[in-house]
Amino acid sequence: MVPKKPSVAIIYGGKSAEYDVSLQTAFSVINAINKDHYKIIPVHITNSGRWIEGHEVTQQLDYKEQLLLDENSHQSYSNKWLTPMSINPANQKPDIAFPLLHGPNGEDGTVQGLLELLDIAYVGSGVLGSAAGMDKVIMKDIFKSHGLKQPKYLSVTKYEWTHNKQQMIEKIKADIGIPCFIKPANNGSSIGINQCKAGDDIEKAADEAFYYDEKVIVEEKITGREIEIGVIGNDELSVSVPGEIKTSSDYYDYQSKYNDGDTSLMIPADLSEQKVNEIEELAKKAFKCLDCKGLSRVDFFIRDSDQAVLINEVNTMPGFTPYSMFPLLWKHTGLDYADLIDKLIRLGIERHQGRKAIRYRLD
Ligand SMILES: Nc1ncnc2c1ncn2[C@@H]1O[C@H](COP(=O)(O)OP(=O)(O)O)[C@@H](O)[C@H]1O
Ligand SMILES: [Mg+2]
Repeated sequence: MVPKKPSVAIIYGGKSAEYDVSLQTAFSVINAINKDHYKIIPVHITNSGRWIEGHEVTQQLDYKEQLLLDENSHQSYSNKWLTPMSINPANQKPDIAFPLLHGPNGEDGTVQGLLELLDIAYVGSGVLGSAAGMDKVIMKDIFKSHGLKQPKYLSVTKYEWTHNKQQMIEKIKADIGIPCFIKPANNGSSIGINQCKAGDDIEKAADEAFYYDEKVIVEEKITGREIEIGVIGNDELSVSVPGEIKTSSDYYDYQSKYNDGDTSLMIPADLSEQKVNEIEELAKKAFKCLDCKGLSRVDFFIRDSDQAVLINEVNTMPGFTPYSMFPLLWKHTGLDYADLIDKLIRLGIERHQGRKAIRYRLD
């Protein structure tokens, strides 16, 4: 049963390079949520990892900086509901948390794990799905085991790189070839990603990726179209129309994602019915095989040379401002921003209630 006016903790910010993106998202979501239906509690995670809970938001925010709660004006987490050992009945838990966090320390299962321990319902994938969707190497290994077609890839650890750099460079050239993409295994928003157009680019690109993670992934470059599709649901999945990213940049980098007038989103993508069906089925399969829940955006390439559909990645907390691909895909599918938020909150509560039947002891 869904409570009459559920309290929703909107968790945003985070110890992640995508902190600013998250703040923007939280601003949009808080303004869009129907405050007659939900009690909104903002929870700011600072970029250094401090948790600060604010007072209920009852009115529209004017600018996103209003969400930069700090210890001086608000309760820090240590004496509130964000402690598994809390016994103070005044520490009322929210009915559900909405972690609007991108990247490590938020989209990767860590915050989801904390919410599990606190026994608080939350929007989106659980610990496993979030973690699997964040780590590009693990994600691709899972895709491989489910027979999903994808670009050739290779994982390199920082240890291997520091101890055998020359050997690794040769391996990248031999196994993956040039051109290739080098990315931190755990990040998003194209942060730390570089394309290598020549063998000499590998060292610099890998060094940069290692700045963000201790493991990187190297992938063959796919020349083709970039198609994205939204999936929502827990067990019964719904898919949105697919959309296409059209960018005049070399690829969809940070600049073209957030600051560029030369990137446009084509919704719906111009695709044959047969391709749409194929993409829908692959997206659902990818969602399920990573054990995703609630929502995900699934991204594909359609290769120019043979029109093959290759999976790129699953994003368990996709960009979520009203101008981001995921909400726009749903808008074109008939679910506007506020309704989408509403639906995701309901899915989170349903999932939490479903899990109450699980037994944790032998009777
Ligand atoms: N193997 C690839 N072939 C061609 N383009 C790629 C490849 N991998 C990444 N890209 C480009 O880089 C962008 C960001 O890469 P992606 O793996 O989606 O990382 P992120 O998680 O940061 O979004 C993609 O949207 C695409 O434009
Ligand atoms: Mg991407």
